[in-house]
Amino acid sequence: MGFWSNLFGLRPKLDHEQELRSPDGRIVCTVKLKLGELTYAIKKDGKNILRTSGLGINLQGEQPLKQGLSIVRIQEKKTDETWTSIVGEQRVIRNNYTETAFYLAETVDNGRLFTVRFRIFDDGVAFRYEIPPQPRFQRLIISDELTEFNVDSNSNAWRIPAYQPDRYEYNYEKRPVYALASSVHTPLTIETPLGHFLSIHEAALYNYGSMTLKLNANNCLQSDITPLSDGMRAYVDLPFNTPWRVIMIADSPIELVVNRDVLNLNEPPKQDFTWVKPLKFIGIWWAMFVGEWTWAPGDRHGATTEHAKEYIDAAKRLNIDGVLMEGWNNGWEGDWLQNGASTDFLHPVSDLNLEEVANYAREREINLVGHHETVGFIDNYEAQMEEAYKYYSNLGINYIKPGYAGSMMTIQGRKEFHHSQAGVRHYQKALELAAKYHICLDVHEPIKGTGTERTWPNLLTREGARGQEYEGGALSPSHATIIPFTRLLAGGMDYTSGIFDVTNAAKRLASTLARQLAYYVTIYSGMQMAADRPRFYEEVNPSAYEFIRKVPVNWERTVPLLGKIGEYYVVARQDRNSDDWYIGGVTNEEAHRVRLSLDFLEEDQSYTAEIYRDSDTAHYRDNQLGITIEARKISRQDYLDIWMAPGGGFAVRIYKS
Ligand code: NOJ
Repeated sequence: MGFWSNLFGLRPKLDHEQELRSPDGRIVCTVKLKLGELTYAIKKDGKNILRTSGLGINLQGEQPLKQGLSIVRIQEKKTDETWTSIVGEQRVIRNNYTETAFYLAETVDNGRLFTVRFRIFDDGVAFRYEIPPQPRFQRLIISDELTEFNVDSNSNAWRIPAYQPDRYEYNYEKRPVYALASSVHTPLTIETPLGHFLSIHEAALYNYGSMTLKLNANNCLQSDITPLSDGMRAYVDLPFNTPWRVIMIADSPIELVVNRDVLNLNEPPKQDFTWVKPLKFIGIWWAMFVGEWTWAPGDRHGATTEHAKEYIDAAKRLNIDGVLMEGWNNGWEGDWLQNGASTDFLHPVSDLNLEEVANYAREREINLVGHHETVGFIDNYEAQMEEAYKYYSNLGINYIKPGYAGSMMTIQGRKEFHHSQAGVRHYQKALELAAKYHICLDVHEPIKGTGTERTWPNLLTREGARGQEYEGGALSPSHATIIPFTRLLAGGMDYTSGIFDVTNAAKRLASTLARQLAYYVTIYSGMQMAADRPRFYEEVNPSAYEFIRKVPVNWERTVPLLGKIGEYYVVARQDRNSDDWYIGGVTNEEAHRVRLSLDFLEEDQSYTAEIYRDSDTAHYRDNQLGITIEARKISRQDYLDIWMAPGGGFAVRIYKS
């Protein structure tokens, strides 16, 4: 201890209390050192957000980093900067916070030291633990993290369970916090009795188990870091920083949607990513879900040379820039979920001439989207991964959809959770290697988003929630009115939108046709799929397809308009490459009428709104295809009145005229 206090030239503080304020002063985080323990509490406008909450880390074979602490140095700074995203919901993002770092040293035991660094934004609080190399050791085994989030337990939370076989793919359920019996995933969105909306999440998750949350013995939410197969949470070399723990804070659900704290807590890219381009794509894909084609070779094999060329031609006609091909390689025969130990990522099946298809695509300026279904067998995948990226890259394939189906991963012969430290490391290794070969990813069965796409923009999108693949009974219309306030706070999602064959008996969707168009605006994704078979766009409803043809993937600005979690959601977004605006709206199983103010439009400018809405008799159960397409002259002063059918929605394109 003498050593550290001499180093910093300060008398260590044994008792301390300090209020950390957001730039606008409305959020106050009180950090206290009392009886050797550090705690924090948060208020907004004088009202409790989190009551006194504990901090600390348990170590294997060592005393916890929690008690007997003193503060040897406090460092404060302010940051107010803007940065520009390459792909995203918002081009220019403001990063405005006050930062305070508490350098701690133990007064007892080993005199170990660590830092807790806080950042207070106008719409949230974040902090992380930073552990420098210690005189006595350079490595640590973290056996638990003791971070508390002491929210009023009468609050309601929208939760999905952690540690379950389908990873993040569950329906959200609204529960009082006191009734969260088992661990839940983040972002965990919470409505407090005082009417605040919070979302607890993490940012910059690298080389550590992902944080889930559970109630501890004091009925307080606490971090539950996903364990490795040996029960430990992480093995780390020092210096080491944990991911940021983030509490997003809003007065209304709609405000949460534009919270950029998680992205802001990630580092800017360290290499050139100007080669990253967002993409709209179709795919040899939904035909497999409805049983027309198969992944495996045979009479109805999807990924043949002939079908691939047909899809490339269709993409050209549909003004779509990409074509996904699933079932192109060996590994799909029989029960493919069992084949992961031997899947081959380097050779196409015999009825697919991949080189010929790649040349055909290149000549037509269509990007192929490759596919790597690993079934979570990381050992087999990593043994081929670099060769597999090189193989695609040499063929000019610069987009890959990797998949990690299966309930656990196999890593170094052990069964590990996808969201464990071992899983997190693999996803990051794959992403960095993909960047080396200028490959962009759309990861299915991914690790949850923690804003790392700011640093690695080639991570264009991910799945990581129930998407339309689950339709056919497993999704209710309310799902799409919940995810904007929960899962989507973690970043974009490949929801596989744009199914026009909504009435298909094999995969009936709980959706009207107009709602399929709405998703392109309500669900942000750096890669957007037009997921149906081309004939449904070209032959069945070409006028509705016009919206998909025009809607962009990359946005200048996002303006959320209306939202009630589980009931409805309406958002406007401006195209990054034109003056056009788009609006999308979705409702739950109830009809909903909205009256939208258009004050995001320019003054003294007339516009045309192309509206794709549910017809007056549309219904997600018995009139899914009822759609009305119309144009109206509008200006900034006008309101748009639109009715959404039960399970319905609408999409609008607005252009200057
Ligand atoms: C699950 C993915 O989410 C889906 O999109 C893919 O088609 C299958 N796995 C097969 O890889």
